[in-house]
Amino acid sequence: MMEITYQNGICLYLEQLRALGIDRLYISEETLRQSLPASRQELLDRLYESIKDCRLCRLCEGRTQVVFGAGNPDAELVFVGEGPGADEDAQGIPFVGRAGKLLTDMIQKGMRLKRGDVYICNVVKCRPPGNRTPLLDEAATCEPFLFQQLEIIRPKYIVALGKPAAQSLLRTQAPISRLRGHWHEFRGIKVMPTYHPAYLLRNPEAKREVWEDLQKVMKEMGLPVKGP
Ligand code: URA
Repeated sequence: MMEITYQNGICLYLEQLRALGIDRLYISEETLRQSLPASRQELLDRLYESIKDCRLCRLCEGRTQVVFGAGNPDAELVFVGEGPGADEDAQGIPFVGRAGKLLTDMIQKGMRLKRGDVYICNVVKCRPPGNRTPLLDEAATCEPFLFQQLEIIRPKYIVALGKPAAQSLLRTQAPISRLRGHWHEFRGIKVMPTYHPAYLLRNPEAKREVWEDLQKVMKEMGLPVKGP
């Protein structure tokens, strides 16, 4: 017999079959292996391949490359930012600049997780010129790709970093100061909005509130909550 785990992708497949009304399967291990659907990583790779040459909005004109996302495709927790900056655009990896270092500290020193335990991505996948906030039409054009990423990963929790991420996921115009610190929902996934790390670089006094928000996430995840 073969063990069925999320890692080998079979569980996801069975859930899809069950949703179609099939609750019993008799199948040899070999046939099962041959008919195995793609793992989450493969599905993400396919999505990346389908958008890596995207020209659906003006952001394609200034980008070096699409910054798709990074981390564990089976993550329970996903961080969603706004859009790549100059460092991310150069390296093709989200959150590797100054704000990224702060996010990494929040994950590693604060939450005591590894960056590779979580998945990190953005609302828009191409760098807005001068690191400006993505325009509403740019976010609207790109967010279906974010939503597909989230449907593939199906995390239990999302931390929405800043207003564009919270507004995309929660379909609200409410200010981040009002949204943060409270649980919301995106397609059955719990969402905790909080301030963006770039905001924290400009307003270090807001770190305390972000830490409180992350502690709520840790508590919900069953992680030990100690001081930073
Ligand atoms: N800010 C973001 O929102 N995303 C990044 O990837 C980097 C900085």
